[in-house]
Amino acid sequence: MNFKRHTVTAALPYANGPVHIGHLAGCYLPADIYVRFLRSKGEDVKFICGSDEHGVPITIKAKKEGITPQQVVDKYHKMMGDSFKEFGVSFDIYSRTTSKTHHETASEFFKKLYDKKVFVEEITEQYFDEKANQFLADRYIVGTCPKCANENAYGDQCEKCGSTLNATDLINPKSTLSGEKPVLKKTKNWFLPLDKMQPQIEAYIDSHKEWKSNVFGQCKSWLNAGLQPRAMTRDLDWGVKVPIEGADGKVLYVWFDAPIGYISATKDLTPDWELYWKDKETKLVHFIGKDNIVFHCIIFPAMLMAEGSYILPENVPANEFLNLEGDKISTSRNWAVWLHEYLIEFKDKQDVLRYTLCANAPESKDNDFTWKDFQAKNNNELVAILGNFINRTLVLTHKYYEGKVPVALEYTKSDLLLLEEITKFPAKIAASIEQYRFREALGELMNLARLGNKYLADNEPWILIKTDEKRVQTIMNLSLQISANLAVLMEPFLPFTAKKLSNMLNLNSGLKWNDATRTDLLLAGHQINTAALLFDKVEDETIIAQVQKLADSKKMNEESNASEIEASKAETSFDDFSKMDIRIGTIIEAERVPKTDKLLKLLIDTGIDKRTVVSGIAGSYKVEEIIGQQVCILVNLAPRKIKGIESQGMILMAENTKGELSFVAPTNDNMNNGGAVK
Ligand code: MF3
Ligand code: ZN
Repeated sequence: MNFKRHTVTAALPYANGPVHIGHLAGCYLPADIYVRFLRSKGEDVKFICGSDEHGVPITIKAKKEGITPQQVVDKYHKMMGDSFKEFGVSFDIYSRTTSKTHHETASEFFKKLYDKKVFVEEITEQYFDEKANQFLADRYIVGTCPKCANENAYGDQCEKCGSTLNATDLINPKSTLSGEKPVLKKTKNWFLPLDKMQPQIEAYIDSHKEWKSNVFGQCKSWLNAGLQPRAMTRDLDWGVKVPIEGADGKVLYVWFDAPIGYISATKDLTPDWELYWKDKETKLVHFIGKDNIVFHCIIFPAMLMAEGSYILPENVPANEFLNLEGDKISTSRNWAVWLHEYLIEFKDKQDVLRYTLCANAPESKDNDFTWKDFQAKNNNELVAILGNFINRTLVLTHKYYEGKVPVALEYTKSDLLLLEEITKFPAKIAASIEQYRFREALGELMNLARLGNKYLADNEPWILIKTDEKRVQTIMNLSLQISANLAVLMEPFLPFTAKKLSNMLNLNSGLKWNDATRTDLLLAGHQINTAALLFDKVEDETIIAQVQKLADSKKMNEESNASEIEASKAETSFDDFSKMDIRIGTIIEAERVPKTDKLLKLLIDTGIDKRTVVSGIAGSYKVEEIIGQQVCILVNLAPRKIKGIESQGMILMAENTKGELSFVAPTNDNMNNGGAVK
């Protein structure tokens, strides 16, 4: 089907921290390349984004920084908007979900579904933190994922296995506000009956077998597991108020309101917004990261279906994650390359990062960003191939022809082959972009530069100039045509460089994608401007400094995690040391010592005997989870009475990185009880 226009969205980032390279590679850069390409094709397209300013991630951040949620989103909305812009991400609008338009749009949307009796109203038991006196939705609660056993799954989602969860699914739930075990409390909420909608949703997904296999596969696995009703309201105070009677103290679920943000942003952009959301001839495409798949492929389409007047997403290209120097990018651990810092430290080098991230985009699997690779991509590809070709072409044109494009006099057989080859690039690159294969597309673009480089190297105009001036005119004309085509085709990927090159070539600024199928963009006699280098080398020092910066942040992070390190004790003799008899033992029984917070009474099989030890670890471990645990135990410590119980030994403990006491446990399974630790 041919579409008349396009609505392209990039996931609304939470306004709770600055943009980093993981965000860029995951969604904003591919979306921008796609949109720039469409514009170059002359398509009618709106590129929509904005800040996601509701939801628990925002209120948690506010709490941490001791400011209001509004202050948090004001700060980061501006910061993110500015850095996207400076990086050349060409949104038609960068809106925000605290805007008036958005609150109205989201309320109306909810109200419409409510009036259509789409929702199931239900009183359920939800977790409540008695200390903080509040319900615990979504990220206010963590626990063990029932699907993959990840211990840090959130109340709405497990980031490890990608499952969507309900807070009540979590094993060992814990409030992130107080760390306490929450209690259940009754409350009323409105549910989207995804279970009842399953047939429709399934038909929709099945009509999109062309989606990327990671996306389609994830959707199928949810469908196979059977969709569950999902609450679209929350007992929280930050968000869009639930616009119906009897819903005081409740707001819309952030994943209900946020995707509607795409619609409200379009409303703020153009009075024609309905054309971009309701006309069947509009192609709606959502660029997202993989943790957003279910929300964009199942929940949002279900909302749109239930509303009835909207088109559905035609594609949802989701990328996997980008790691940094082999480690998962993490805002809280400050393990990231922050865009706003990059833009200062690498001024005017936006395209180098765009190139590196696109060349390494985690399109089909997680991928790694390293500074060394950044340097290599810059020096060996941008400088050595693309920059070198353009520079040689322009410098020679100035040297031989005072910057005027020479006439192509006579083509050789290989020139003709080359000309034919050149005309194929726009279609080749387009085919990759249209299938969301941006790495491949970029690779093709570089192949055109390689072709140019090889042409110069094979023909050596700098030598021929002495013997065959006429031939050199043709060679230089052809090289200039390749340069012009490169300027057009690189624009989606490297917009800053494209502009520089177009200026240097004095190219007509209205050129479109398909103009690059021609090989006469520069007419003979056309005057070009002075040449400047498109890229320069990234030196070792630069890279070393960045790697050092990361190492420092890792160190700082570890230091702030580890509590005070105790000074070492006075020297002791080997004799004294060897008097201590430490053995491997297994905990075979455990119970809380009544009226204490921390103490557990343990029965340990030491291999020698079974004995009772009182240990202060109830803060770190639960009774159930330590049965069978192997530990190191000092067996010849004189017995001591603790809370009336005789403790006959001591278990070796140390603090973990979270500052909790944990066993110094043998790392090999099944060591012999009674084995001496030496
Ligand atoms: N804020 C979400 C995230 O960063 C993405 C929201 S996308 C939208 O994961 F569709 F809800 F807008
Ligand atoms: Zn999981």
